[in-house]
Amino acid sequence: MSLHNEEALFLKKIEQEIKIEARDWMPEEYRKTLIRQISQHAHSEIVGMLPEGAWITRAPNLRRKLILLAKVQDEAGHGLYLYSSAETLGITRDELIHQLHTGKAKYSSIFNYPTLTWADIGAIGWLVDGAAIMNQVMLCRTSYGPYARAMVKICKEESFHQRQGYESLLALSKGSDQQKAMLQDAVNRWWWPSIMMFGPSDSESTNSEKSMLWKIKRQSNDDLRQRFVDATVDQANILGVTLPDPALKWNEARGHYDFGEINWDEFWNVVKGNGPCNKQRLAARVEAHEKGQWVRDAAMAYADKKKKRAA
Ligand code: 3HC
Repeated sequence: MSLHNEEALFLKKIEQEIKIEARDWMPEEYRKTLIRQISQHAHSEIVGMLPEGAWITRAPNLRRKLILLAKVQDEAGHGLYLYSSAETLGITRDELIHQLHTGKAKYSSIFNYPTLTWADIGAIGWLVDGAAIMNQVMLCRTSYGPYARAMVKICKEESFHQRQGYESLLALSKGSDQQKAMLQDAVNRWWWPSIMMFGPSDSESTNSEKSMLWKIKRQSNDDLRQRFVDATVDQANILGVTLPDPALKWNEARGHYDFGEINWDEFWNVVKGNGPCNKQRLAARVEAHEKGQWVRDAAMAYADKKKKRAA
């Protein structure tokens, strides 16, 4: 088939909602965009284990510890499916990890903030996982088959993560004055970084035009951010917390909440590697990878031995 026909077939499949599969012809830019987005997503899941992992030993009781352990393990699983999905596009796991460890690949800005109290763990579940699902449900319908299929299980688990976070905050909201203050303080610190997770505003989003055309992304950064704000205000009222934005107000004419200006300088500063915990997070990942070298060596030696025996 000529290149022209290959491209026409590709575009027709996109139009007809037929998934693009690993062996199908695809434009080089589509492949690169997917590798960029899926790997950034995978890295976010893996780096995202760090701020919560820090609280596993300090969870207030056995039930909370079990939930948190399961949640952090889920994130590891999500990272692994997503790396596998990126590998179907012709990049190796080693290259992906190298890109993360050398600062070439991005991961979500949100994981560069510290978890200072137990309430932060609930706030991450409620706000961070809540924002993540708002963005990721659309990815179950993304045009690339291996990514879309991975997202189905991920979204189910993320929805459990969001609920456990909210339930944990609900417990704090019925607790002592000190617990209520801890809850409010966590919400104050996590609210703005959570709404930054959706990425730059549509007018600044360099990748959106192509990604929407190719149905990699199905909704824009600003639309998803607005949906998240709209969904979260009532939940905050039930918790009895104030969201730290004086401009947050229902707009009858728009049928949405208006909200204040995001501090984009802060966002880009974190994305460029200068957030409160960027260096610590990368250092922890590099150290874990280096310490795991013996496991990879042993697995390779075992596979080699098995192959030789079979031969
Ligand atoms: N953090 C860091 N970088 C970000 C960002 C964020 N929150 N939002 C956008 N960026 C980067 C983009 O990667 C892009 O840089 P690049 O061109 O060098 O890659 C640049 O800012 C411009 O942004 P665009 O809007 O043009 O980028 P995208 O079209 O890729 O949209 C996105 C950004 C909405 C995050 C999209 O990539 C996406 O939907 N990704 C999949 C979901 C994902 O990765 N979520 C991350 C959180 S997952 C998670 O948190 C785990 C869970 O357990 C909580």
